[in-house]
Amino acid sequence: MKRRTFIMQSSSILVSGLALPLVSVAEQKAKKKQEEEDDVSTNEDLMREHGVLNRILLIYDEAIRRIQANDKDAKFDPAIITKSAGLIKKFIEEYHEKLEEDHLFPRFEKAGKLVDLVKTLRTQHAAGRTLTGRIIANANKGDMQAIRPDLASFLRMYRPHEAREDTVLFPTLHSIVSKHEYDALGEQFDQIERKTFGGDGFDMAVDQVTELEKQFGVYDLAQFTPKA
Ligand SMILES: [Fe+2]
Ligand SMILES: [Fe+2]
Repeated sequence: MKRRTFIMQSSSILVSGLALPLVSVAEQKAKKKQEEEDDVSTNEDLMREHGVLNRILLIYDEAIRRIQANDKDAKFDPAIITKSAGLIKKFIEEYHEKLEEDHLFPRFEKAGKLVDLVKTLRTQHAAGRTLTGRIIANANKGDMQAIRPDLASFLRMYRPHEAREDTVLFPTLHSIVSKHEYDALGEQFDQIERKTFGGDGFDMAVDQVTELEKQFGVYDLAQFTPKA
């Protein structure tokens, strides 16, 4: 009996020993994927959100071109503007800029670094929200001529705004927070993102902007390569 018990125990260990790695592979894969997502550093996270903004700015750019062309071939559904501006509102203004306002700007202000720049960036966030509100309202009315100058103002402000953040503000963050705080901030951003969007907000935003680009005919990257 003793020997049998031993064999039974060994075989159950063997069985669970075999079964365990199978479960673990799936678990490990999920864990690895989660870790890879968590690996996005604070600045990379903010800069790739600027990438989403840039892709919407391309849609704004093309919209301005088509409104100015003012012929029937250039006519387009105002919904493209409503949806693009809606994505800016949800993903940039209410999420990305909120991260900057709640977690980045106060650290610079407290450290007394780039205070004038931060003041201008804050003012521009507010101005951007006013423009977006007006762009959505006019797009809902289908008033393309009223939208055009606001799209132009938005582009003119946000290109230098985000470029200054990418090249001056974000790089300086390393000098005002410790390595540990920098890493913790990235993890905190990840948690806020999951809570805000119920998943990976960046992936969702990229999918949405891709869909809008396709609808508007600006998705194919090769079309922007000069012919010669
Ligand atoms: Fe900003
Ligand atoms: Fe930004």
